[in-house]
Amino acid sequence: MNIAVVGGGTRCRNLLDLIERHSFQEIFPKVVAVADKRDNAAGLVKARKKGLFVTNDYNDLFDRDDIDLIMELTGNQDIYNDICDKKKKTVRAVDHRIALLLREISVVYDDQNLTQQELRETRARYDVIMNVAINEDVMVIAPDYRILDVNETLLKKVGLEREEAIGRYCYEVSHHRNAPCSGERQPCPLPEALKSQKPSQTTHIHLDKDNRELFYAVSCYPLFENGEVIGVVGISRNITKDVNIQKVMMQQEKLASIGRLAAGVAHEINNPMTTILTSVMLMQEDTDHGDPRYQELQTITDETLRCSKIVTSLLDFARQMKPSKTAHNLSDLVMECIVLTRKQAAFNNVAIEESLSEDLPLINIDKDKIEQALINLALNAIEATDPGGKVTLSVKFVPETETFEITVSDSGRGIPYEDMDKIFDPFFTTTKNGTGLGLAITHGIIEQHGGTIDVQSKLGQGTTFTIRLPLDLGDIDVH
Ligand SMILES: Nc1ncnc2c1ncn2[C@@H]1O[C@H](COP(=O)(O)OP(=O)(O)OP(=O)(O)O)[C@@H](O)[C@H]1O
Ligand SMILES: [Mg+2]
Repeated sequence: MNIAVVGGGTRCRNLLDLIERHSFQEIFPKVVAVADKRDNAAGLVKARKKGLFVTNDYNDLFDRDDIDLIMELTGNQDIYNDICDKKKKTVRAVDHRIALLLREISVVYDDQNLTQQELRETRARYDVIMNVAINEDVMVIAPDYRILDVNETLLKKVGLEREEAIGRYCYEVSHHRNAPCSGERQPCPLPEALKSQKPSQTTHIHLDKDNRELFYAVSCYPLFENGEVIGVVGISRNITKDVNIQKVMMQQEKLASIGRLAAGVAHEINNPMTTILTSVMLMQEDTDHGDPRYQELQTITDETLRCSKIVTSLLDFARQMKPSKTAHNLSDLVMECIVLTRKQAAFNNVAIEESLSEDLPLINIDKDKIEQALINLALNAIEATDPGGKVTLSVKFVPETETFEITVSDSGRGIPYEDMDKIFDPFFTTTKNGTGLGLAITHGIIEQHGGTIDVQSKLGQGTTFTIRLPLDLGDIDVH
């Protein structure tokens, strides 16, 4: 990497010394030119002695073809901005604080006061962070967001050589952005670390290619030189697994407490409702069909029956009865669900199709409950799909994980991002006549079978619910 230095003072001389002294591993930095107004500036003098190109006007540097990086060491922000404006696009520019940071890092390698043993240990520690043992993305970043060093893990991920990454902006390399990270989902901890001079942490949320959320803990640890923060070590760690486990636990806790409440309420409501229903029916018996009150009584009956249906569903959801399991073939079960929902699909002019695997192993399940879960998903899918759309139910066995995967996909309207966390909550509904209990009940059923249910959705394109059930052989005679 060929470097041109603007500002040929002591900092420049120190840099020349550092590069001379130090044996670099992957980048081979070489200072090829120095610019300074003062003919007697220490760095310029040394450069001249070494036979390097020297000039009093840094504008002479911009036409040269042998420069990869311009280092501005005068500390003058206007000069730095001017360099950024005038330099060729392929040439990178870094400012004076980086030289300070380079020195800081080089101390790890070169501190004269360290014993050989200490030196080896410190060097090993630096290598551990930057290169080998860490499965996290690590960067050393200057206050202007430029990368000073980067570890192998991140380089592999972004497909760059170390030399290509150094000098570029961290957000450009790690996030493919052209401005620093910002916003609720990707806040940048660097300004806070610089301001407070303390470590600063945030969480970044990204979407993978299947629109699944990925969570990263992003931390910045300030690096000091003479009491001044001259850069940060930025570490980013994928914490998606931990976040998902936490989410599942919170969801379970929420559903369990709502379940207890619902069971109590439903139980108490059931008795008065039976009384209302019988009384209305008795009154209707005494009323003529032609009497206008007959129709009103009919409305009371219908609405009370609707309440009763809700209460039954609530009890279904709340009752944590142990499933009574027997051996079944999931392909047969999926076919039964399709038969049972075909009419509804036809009514909405939605095609319903299956994709089944042959020779599925048998699985121990509570057939009625799993069927109820699949029908809930299929009805939701049909409801969310415009006429002419398609709903597909599929089932397969994944031998590597010993799990069955059942998916219910639709080409419907999709679920808005802000609803994703709520759809499994009891009573969450966006439909006119829904109770919002379907998915809550489905979630409970799958959980009782030791399985999981996930959802992926793209607005306007469709939704896929995936149920994963562990191979439960129970008392099935496999021989
Ligand atoms: N396939 C889907 N596509 C789009 N949105 C969906 C889909 N499945 C569920 N939802 C959303 O989740 C909400 C909750 O679903 P859930 O099955 O729990 O209740 P519901 O269908 O509204 O009422 P119920 O099932 O009790 O009649 C729905 O109202 C809808 O907003
Ligand atoms: Mg539903």
